[in-house]
Amino acid sequence: MKDSVFYLLVYGWIAIALFIFPLVIRFIAPYGRHTSRKWGAMIDNRVGWIIMELPALLVFSGFYLFGSGDHPTVTWIFFLLWVFHYINRTLIFPFRLRTKGKKMPLAIVFMAIGFNFMNGFINGYYLGTLATEAKYPISYLLDPRFLTGFSIFFLGMFINWQADNILIHLRKPGDTGYVIPQNGFFSFVSCPNHFGEILEWFGFAILVWSLPALAFAVWTLVNLMPRALHHHQWYKQSFPEYPPERKALLPFIL
Ligand SMILES: NC(=O)c1ccc[n+]([C@@H]2O[C@H](COP(=O)([O-])OP(=O)(O)OC[C@H]3O[C@@H](n4cnc5c(N)ncnc54)[C@H](OP(=O)(O)O)[C@@H]3O)[C@@H](O)[C@H]2O)c1
Repeated sequence: MKDSVFYLLVYGWIAIALFIFPLVIRFIAPYGRHTSRKWGAMIDNRVGWIIMELPALLVFSGFYLFGSGDHPTVTWIFFLLWVFHYINRTLIFPFRLRTKGKKMPLAIVFMAIGFNFMNGFINGYYLGTLATEAKYPISYLLDPRFLTGFSIFFLGMFINWQADNILIHLRKPGDTGYVIPQNGFFSFVSCPNHFGEILEWFGFAILVWSLPALAFAVWTLVNLMPRALHHHQWYKQSFPEYPPERKALLPFIL
């Protein structure tokens, strides 16, 4: 593929994210607490999670590993960070969920497959085929973009994993109800899992300093900011005693 065609595709992908953002804010994604039978055929929640996240792991890895580029040493670090995140999200997280008997619409699974396929492709192709030693010499490990991005990535991952863990343990095995989460970053926001994930991928974008990584960060924001706002609204409606000072996504701000 010509480089110009590839970058046009990535710009187009970012443009789609920005275009649909106002629509996604109004559209409540029907899975988890917002799940709905109005969306047609349903699939087991856990199976749905595995299927929809798998392309992010496989497509990214395939395009990186079999790409025709130089595979500079630094890009192996980017590769390992991505794979580390997605091994948890695809192969560990779904089995930890206390989601017995719950279902999600197949439509959500198909949408997420498209999203993960595209982000996996653009990032895997860029790192496996286009990334050069000249852009990522070994000295890049001391570049401020590497050091800042790496730190933000792991801060985001810590917040995301801690929040996922707290949420999973709110239920006893077999339970499916909801309670008000406490502790950790839940003292500040309703959805630290989403806040951490957004931070993580913006950290990754700074670290890699590429257009495809930025595109993925933008898509993550477009996906998760509305979801956090909808969760926050749902908490306030479902629990009259919900802490009034708690924000939805960004501590003290939103
Ligand atoms: N990169 C991306 O674009 C992207 C997109 C989507 C998700 N993700 C990540 O995937 C993970 C899950 O996302 P999500 O939106 O499904 O998270 P979520 O709605 O907060 O749910 C996470 C898990 O915790 C349970 N849960 C949530 N709140 C609860 C409460 N108050 N009481 C008891 N149980 C509760 C949920 O049960 P129910 O399922 O029964 O509600 C679910 O099993 C997050 O880490 C998120 O960042 C990333």
